[in-house]
Amino acid sequence: MRHFLDLASCSSDELHELIESALRLKAEWRAGGNAPILRGTTLGMIFQKPSLRTRVSFEMAMKHLGGDAIMLGPQEIGLGVRESVPDVARVLSSYVQGIMARVFAHQDVLDLADYSRVPVINGLSDDYHPCQALADILTIRERFGRLGGLKLAFVGDGNNVAASVALACAHFGISFCIATPEGYEMKAPIREQAIGISKRNGTVVEMGTRPQAAVADADVIYTDTWVSMGQEAEAAERAGEFEAFQVNADLLRRANPAAIVMHCLPAHRGDEITDEVMDGAQSRIFEQAENRMHAQKAILARLLT
Ligand code: CP
Ligand code: NVA
Repeated sequence: MRHFLDLASCSSDELHELIESALRLKAEWRAGGNAPILRGTTLGMIFQKPSLRTRVSFEMAMKHLGGDAIMLGPQEIGLGVRESVPDVARVLSSYVQGIMARVFAHQDVLDLADYSRVPVINGLSDDYHPCQALADILTIRERFGRLGGLKLAFVGDGNNVAASVALACAHFGISFCIATPEGYEMKAPIREQAIGISKRNGTVVEMGTRPQAAVADADVIYTDTWVSMGQEAEAAERAGEFEAFQVNADLLRRANPAAIVMHCLPAHRGDEITDEVMDGAQSRIFEQAENRMHAQKAILARLLT
């Protein structure tokens, strides 16, 4: 594993190892602090879109492991505008030991990886959010003590987060069932990737348009914003299309009574999820956010040491 760009290009074994490593690094941090295994190592962080969790959790992960991070916001380098993506990759990778990038077009993160001399991590693209999904698997594993045989229901948009969660479920033996409005399904090539991996691991990927059917017997209910970054002009239209896809107390009652609720954040309370559910006893949403830092330490340790 040279880069961490999408979960389709990782093996299930590599991802299992990352989860075991994340558990160890989290325990080590809680017991007093991590060993400085990334001393002398700097991560360059390129952001074409805003971020709270990804930015701060990567920076803190680097600091905890004895390294450093440099934030490069949209105004600073003008990725692909002021300078071509390959040239940014060539120059930046001559200064830093790793690059994390949050971009619009997924091709930009692929191009960064192609022209970089150092490992590149996808911190979210329009197609995927693999760091999020790895942290989500860590959260599910901590809650249930196992992964294989569980069922996750994703309710809402077939977006970047849905794509990476679907792939993660396929790798870890979790059945994945998504309910989206018509026209907002996961992209066909990504769906095929998830189905291919799920078959190897003896699980299923199901798609439908009825949230009530998707959540039946689910151990995890997952949702995300109806309007991803870059889709702001579609907000009014999407609000109408997604109205019946809210994760609320009524929907939660239809799942397994021990089910947990997940959301990658930021949440639009009152739209895709109610306050009652988000702040309720079954929510694991804020553990999920914390686990971004622990899961990313495992990625950094794997790629940068
Ligand atoms: N979940 C997530 O990636 O959050 P940010 O957009 O704040 O980084
Ligand atoms: N789907 C959302 C996730 C934000 C972390 C977006 O792309 O904006």
